[in-house]
Amino acid sequence: MQYRHIPVMVDEVLGFLNCQPGGTCVDCTIGGAGHAAAIIENLLPDGLLIGIDQDLDAVEAAARRLAPYKSNVHLFHDNFVNLPDILAQLNISAVDGILADLGVSLHQLEGSSRGFSFQKDEVLDMRMNTDQPKTAGTILNQASSQTLKHILKAYGEEQWAGRIAEKIVSRRQRHPIRTTGELVEVIYEAIPQRIIRKRKIHPATKVFMALRIAVNQELDCLDRFLTAAVELLRPGGRICVFSFHSLEDRLVKHRFRALENPCTCPPDFPECVCGKQPQLRVLTRKVRRPGAEEIARNPRARSTCLRASEKL
Ligand SMILES: C[S@@+](CC[C@H](N)C(=O)[O-])C[C@H]1O[C@@H](n2cnc3c(N)ncnc32)[C@H](O)[C@@H]1O
Repeated sequence: MQYRHIPVMVDEVLGFLNCQPGGTCVDCTIGGAGHAAAIIENLLPDGLLIGIDQDLDAVEAAARRLAPYKSNVHLFHDNFVNLPDILAQLNISAVDGILADLGVSLHQLEGSSRGFSFQKDEVLDMRMNTDQPKTAGTILNQASSQTLKHILKAYGEEQWAGRIAEKIVSRRQRHPIRTTGELVEVIYEAIPQRIIRKRKIHPATKVFMALRIAVNQELDCLDRFLTAAVELLRPGGRICVFSFHSLEDRLVKHRFRALENPCTCPPDFPECVCGKQPQLRVLTRKVRRPGAEEIARNPRARSTCLRASEKL
């Protein structure tokens, strides 16, 4: 199987991670190993790259791509929230660099047949890890109208969440919603035509994103991962996170800031009494984005947000 994905902002990430020969880095979302193949070149001859992905297709693709570096690579089919256990299995207590390139791969969107894209008519699955029990179809056909509304609003910031949730429930009373095509039809029925005509994005974009986030519990995993990952960096170690929508980017920005300035004392206290020590120095005061040339080459890169921090 051909695995397609174009890695974004490779030079920037190499600069921030600052990997050195003999170092240990973790790519927590290895995908097709585009970033990882570049990172490992900086770790050779005796460094170690640990690669994680919850999608088995990605782990297999990464194994093929990184075969020439086999003795310097450990790959895991797992969720990155389990990073502490993975490092413990390898007897590693701290690492020099951690990368997380969140979101979906081009393979998942275009080649996985799991219903990640509204541009294809496929079964509504959307699981990155197909060992998980709950699919997008399960949620759509079993969740209450209230829960569906919450998912579409909280994870998709969909203005028409209530109407779409009601239409989903009324459609599934006739027969279950099984395919992406059926879901797109329901969305077109729920959102008024005048709004659809005005929208700059496809009317199904936010609903599909919201469902994918819910199926894979993406925000909850990211939140748990960030705190654990920073603990596993050695002093001077770096963490880089790519996100592709504002909910994720906000979470990364706030978590980094909170770890840089964890003091919880009221602002009018003359000095800190809570004793919470900074753990990070944020390296990206402003979010980094790809340049025009990269976006022209790879239009999917346009929504990329990169943030990086250094462990104190
Ligand atoms: C944008 S792709 C990564 C592409 C990769 N950087 C490359 O160069 O090919 C995102 C990958 O992250 C994986 N992923 C997303 N959330 C994850 C999680 N919580 N744990 C492990 N892998 C995750 C997805 O399965 C997907 O393969």
